[in-house]
Order: sequence, then structure tokens, then C-alpha cells
Amino acid sequence: MTLPKNRHLGYGKSAMSLSLRFILPLFVALSLISWASIGVVEKLTESWFIRDVEARAQSIGNTLELPVGLALHSDTDKEKRERLLEVFHKATQDERLFGVALCREGDHAPFARTAEFPPMVDCSGEVLGGKATGVLQYRRAPIHTSYLKLMLDAKPVTLILVHDLSFMSRRSEETRKYIFWFFAILAVVVSFITVVIAQLSWRGWVQGLRAVVRGEGLLRPFRSSGAVTPELRPLVKDLRAMMREMEAERPIHDDANVTWSPAALKEILQQDLRGEEILIVSNREPYIHNRGKDGTITAKFPASGLVSALEPVMRACSGTWVAHGSGNADREVVDKNDRVQVPPDKPSYQIRRVWLTEEEEQGYYYGFSNEGLWPLCHVAHTRPVFRSSDWEMYVKVNRKFADAVVQEARTDNPVILVQDYHFALLPRMVKEQLPNACVITFWHIPWPNPEAFGICPWREEILHGMLGSNILGFHTRFHCNNFLETVDRFMETRIDRETSTITSGGNATAVRQYPISIEWPSRWLEGQPSVAECHRLVREKLGVKADIKLGIGVDRLDYTKGILERFRAVERLLELESQWRGKFSFVQIASPSRSTIDHYKAFDAAVRDEAERINKLYGSEGYKPIHLLVEHHGPKDVFTHYRASDICFVSSLHDGMNLVAKEYVAAREDEQGVLILSQFTGAARELPEALIVNPYDTDQCAAALQMALEMSNREQRDRMRSMRNFVKEFNVYRWAGRMLVDAARMRQKSRFREKRFFGGGGQ
Ligand code: G6P
Repeated sequence: MTLPKNRHLGYGKSAMSLSLRFILPLFVALSLISWASIGVVEKLTESWFIRDVEARAQSIGNTLELPVGLALHSDTDKEKRERLLEVFHKATQDERLFGVALCREGDHAPFARTAEFPPMVDCSGEVLGGKATGVLQYRRAPIHTSYLKLMLDAKPVTLILVHDLSFMSRRSEETRKYIFWFFAILAVVVSFITVVIAQLSWRGWVQGLRAVVRGEGLLRPFRSSGAVTPELRPLVKDLRAMMREMEAERPIHDDANVTWSPAALKEILQQDLRGEEILIVSNREPYIHNRGKDGTITAKFPASGLVSALEPVMRACSGTWVAHGSGNADREVVDKNDRVQVPPDKPSYQIRRVWLTEEEEQGYYYGFSNEGLWPLCHVAHTRPVFRSSDWEMYVKVNRKFADAVVQEARTDNPVILVQDYHFALLPRMVKEQLPNACVITFWHIPWPNPEAFGICPWREEILHGMLGSNILGFHTRFHCNNFLETVDRFMETRIDRETSTITSGGNATAVRQYPISIEWPSRWLEGQPSVAECHRLVREKLGVKADIKLGIGVDRLDYTKGILERFRAVERLLELESQWRGKFSFVQIASPSRSTIDHYKAFDAAVRDEAERINKLYGSEGYKPIHLLVEHHGPKDVFTHYRASDICFVSSLHDGMNLVAKEYVAAREDEQGVLILSQFTGAARELPEALIVNPYDTDQCAAALQMALEMSNREQRDRMRSMRNFVKEFNVYRWAGRMLVDAARMRQKSRFREKRFFGGGGQ
């Protein structure tokens, strides 16, 4: 686990936000407390002041008893009043005594009162509701009034003393200020102490947790360096167990629940594979640079199912694709490290080109790969040819590519996707140099049964090389089983049939089924004319009448593709159902392929002859039953043809998957068109809505053509819609994604194993 680069900043922010999260509530709480405290204190001081004033009034009353008694001994009321006022005047020298009055028994208004005495206070005491003392408001200030009963010369009189209480408000104001400042200072001091403590302990905890998370704490929880703080020590055991569980159970993408797209693939690379490096190695490169007769260099997209499938994956992964530089201008466009950025219009990954001598290409590519392994793996009844000179070149070139892969690797543990039968030895060769690499080998062609494979003179070497892979993928379960049987027959290994894993020399290889597919939506659909327009354009180009129904076949000119069988089915249809003569034509796009090999040369000639023969037989003025186009067509052009055709006929004699079938489905947004599909393709297992045929059974294929030509639009739509839904969901991103998810799972398990082994073990 890596720490973020700006870890100090991150830590500071966390501590700061923790502090703020603590300080804010503290402030609020202290404000509330100070508010409540002021109220309580005010109430308390008020009652104290009143009690104090009452005591004062009583004592003033006692003091005035004698002088008031003497004053009342005067002769006249006037004299009495004058003498009383003198006494009262002296008494009110006290700043708090606001006014004094005297009532004799029966008086309503006071007999004598000082000038300031509040007029609403009379002798009845009504103003206090009959109580002897109380607080009133006078001139917007509080006053305290006390009625004191005195007996002077056996006559009852009432002395009324009024105290000014405004000093009380002044004191309350001051108290409020003191309390406010007290709590404010308290809040600041407490917050400061909190922040300091939080920062210090957070730093310690963070360091401790980091150490635990990095695994240091797990392995050495009590080391003296202090990475794990003492408070964390009791937690380390629990953390250790939790980490192990998380590591083992961290959900790697469940491929069934993912909507597969380039973005989903990128996410897997970033999350599950933690952005690890991706390298692809294949013989065929995705862009071939050729210089044309006019001197300009163009990039050609080759006719290869492998390339069609992997190219969109690579665009999503942005890695390095190591491949044979086979174009005549390839060397002109690479940099000094033999790399070129592609796609040319919007570069997103790079090709690392490997150069081969003619001799190498002859022995490794034409010889061992395509005259030996290709027919060996395809049950197409073409004898494989094995020459030891080809084998030597095959070993040499595998080594050359392995070295290029190792050179390209920027880390010691990249994920390497090895493609196809050209590189059976490369997985082991790479693993010897990069033991931590995760090698996923995908075999794009069928794997035969042990008897068929057993005729290869270097069968053990090939199997040994392939078992250098961590994951070995085939299109179908059937091919996986054939491989397991073959290994069982020829190698000393342990095979776990339940998990489909082969262990040899401590190395485990998971043998898995990953049916390949195409990108969805296909980028070749962008800018395509409408189906009606494609219909018109293609017929116009071929010189075919508008009402003619078209069938399409798109293949490399390869004997495994069943092109001759297809033509014979067309011939049989025209023979048996004469109404289609002049009404149905079959267009065969055939890309020249491996044309220096005798078998391919012969096949090329046979295909041309057969087309010519049938055209002679059933053709007429302005009508050709078969339009054979032996030339390379770019994918966009191919898609236009798919959209223009009523039928697509895939009649491979044996095919790992066959992506033409899926491309036809992808091209038909209008949900029309019928797919006729050989039962010997991997695709037949996934697209049962197609008309499934045995290409060796000419009558059956002719009947399928007839059925397709007569199929109602509604039935076409139902079948096409269902196939489209399937291909959309099971697209090439799922294919690649599932392999990468499995690689991630494998990595996770081995990390876990290492941890258990090297220190994380005991509780
Ligand atoms: C098949 C193979 C691919 C190959 C493609 C085209 O699909 O599985 O590995 O690239 O044919 O053949 P080519 O020999 O032209 O590369």
C-alpha cells in the first residue's frame, strides 16, 4: 500500500478538521453555559440585594424611631411635618434611600413625605398588593418599598421607606460582563489545549496506523522504533486479523455484475490490478504501415480476429503491444526504440515492433506456426508439416519476442497477455526472466484431442512452454478439456480437475474458458450510411440489380474457413431452387493470407476455380451467382457489406470462435438479416438463434440458405435481437476483463500466501 505523495498535507488537514470538529461544539456549549450562568447569577444577586435592602430598611426604621417620635411631639401639624422632613432629609442623605414618608393611623395620603417620594405609594399599601415589602418600577428604574409599623406613644404609625435599586442593574451588567469574559477566555484556553493534544496524539496514531497498514506493525508490532504507538499495541492483533480478512476477501469485480465497457476495463486495471503495467504480445500487429505505389504511407488494419478483438482492449488499457513489424514502411515510422504510437488518428497506446529476418519469418511464421501448429489444431483434414529447421526458428523467434517483452517491461511484475499459437514457448521464457510477472496466454484457435496433438514431434516442449503461464485461456470448455487431457497424456504434472489447474514444478497454471468477442458498439458503425443506403451502394458497386438478395462471406483465404463448402451450398440451392437463379448472389470477401505457403496457394486457386465454375453454370447476362473479391477490405467497408446483405454465411470447418459472425450481428442495428453458422465454430455455442449447419453437409447448407431467404422479417428480428443482446453483453471488454479479474484474484491470493509465509502468520 502506498502513501499519498502529499501525505503531510493530508495529515495536517485531518488533524485540523478534527480540531475544528471539536472546537465548534465546544464554543457552542460554552456559550450556552455562559448564557444560563448569567441568568442564574442575576437571579441570585437580585434576591441577595433585596434581602440586603430589606435589612437596611429595618435598621433605618429602627434608627428613625426615636427622632420621628420626637418630631411627632411637636405642637402643631405644621411643626410636626417640618421636623419630620428634617429627620427624613437627613436619612435620605444615604444615596440609596430614595424617599421616606409617614402615615398615621387612618391616613390615606402620607402625613409627611420627602420631595422625591413616589406619588403612587400611598398609606394603604395597595400598590404592593398588601405585602409589607416589594419591588416596583418608578421612572423606568426599580425601587424597593418597605412599610414599617411603629408604635409611637402607643399610637400606630407607618414609616414608608423607598430604596433606589438601579445600582442593582448596574451591578448585574458588570456581573454579566465578567461571566462572559470568563467563559470566553475559558473556551479559548480549552480549545488551544485540545488542538495541541489532538495534533500530538493524531500524529502518533496516524503514524502507528500507517505502520500497521504497511504491514510493519503486523510483522513487528512491538519494535522499539515507535512506529506503532503504545496505545495501538492492544489493537494490533485485531487489526492484523482484520487486514488478513480484508486482503483475502476484498471484493474483486464480480464480472457478472459489471456492464462491460472500456471504462469498466480501465476501472479494473486501476482498482483490482492497482494500475499495473499491461503488455500484449502477438505476431500480427494492429497497424501495418505500407508505402503504396504513389509513395504515401498508409496504416492498414489487418484481417485478423485476434487483432479486431484486442485492439479496442488495448485502447482502453493504454499499454504496449509487442508485435512483428511486417509492413514495408514499418521501419520508417518507428522511433529509435522501434516504437510507434497508435491508432494513427488518436494515439492511445504503443506498438513495439520486433524485426524478423526472412529466414526467421519463413521458419517461425510460415513454417512451424502455419504449416505445423495451424493445421495441427484445426480439424480441417490438412496434414501438418513439421520441419526441425522451422522448429529452431520458432524457438529463436519466441526467445527474441520474450526478450523484447522483458525490455519493454517497466516493472518486475507486469501483466503480460500472450496471444496465440505463435508463442507457445514464450510464457516460460518470460517467466524465467520476470518471475513476478502475471502471464495470461490466450490460444485463439482450437485445441485438438491428445491423439491429434500427439503427432507433434515437440509436443512436450510446447506444453512445457505454455505451462509457464499463470492463466491459459481457450474459447470453449471443450478446448480446455482437450488441453487438460493432452497434458495428462504427455506430461508429469498434477491436475486438479475441480479447479481446472495444472501444477508442474511448483508452478500453477489455471486453464480457463474465455469466449472472445468484439467491441460493442463497434467503432466501424460510426459514419456508416443507413442500411438502405448500404444496400444500394454495395449493389451499385457490384453491378447487381436492386432487387437481388445478397449473401456475404468475409474471411481470410484460408482452408479452415469452409469457403469451398459455402460455394457448393450456393450451387446446390440454385440447382434445387431454381427460382433463386438471377435473384440471389453470394459475395465472398477473401483477404489473401499466408500466400507463400503451398497449401494456401492451392486453396486460393481452388476458390477462384470453384467460383468461376459455378458462375459459368448458373450465371447469365448481368447475373453472377458468386462475386469473389480477393483483396483486403478495411473494416469500415466490410461493415457496409454486412449491412447490405440479407444473409451472412460462416461455414468454417473448424474455428476457435469466429468473430465475423459477431460482427455481422453488430452491424445490423436494423435487426434484420440472417446468420448461417457452422456448428464447428466456437460462436455456434453462443449464438443458437443463428441457423446452425454442418458445412460438410451441402444439402443442409443449401436448405439453410433457402430458409434464410424466405424468413419473415419478424422472425429475422426476433433472432437478430436476441443475438445482439448477447453480443452486446458478452463483448470483448468482458473477455479481457474476466481474464484481468482472474489475474487480480491470483495476485491477491499469492500476496496473501506470501504474507502468511513471511511473517503475517502467527497470531
Ligand atoms: C487467426 C489467428 C491469428 C491471426 C489471424 C490472421 O485468427 O488466430 O493469430 O493473426 O488468424 O492470420 P495472420 O497469419 O494473417 O496473422
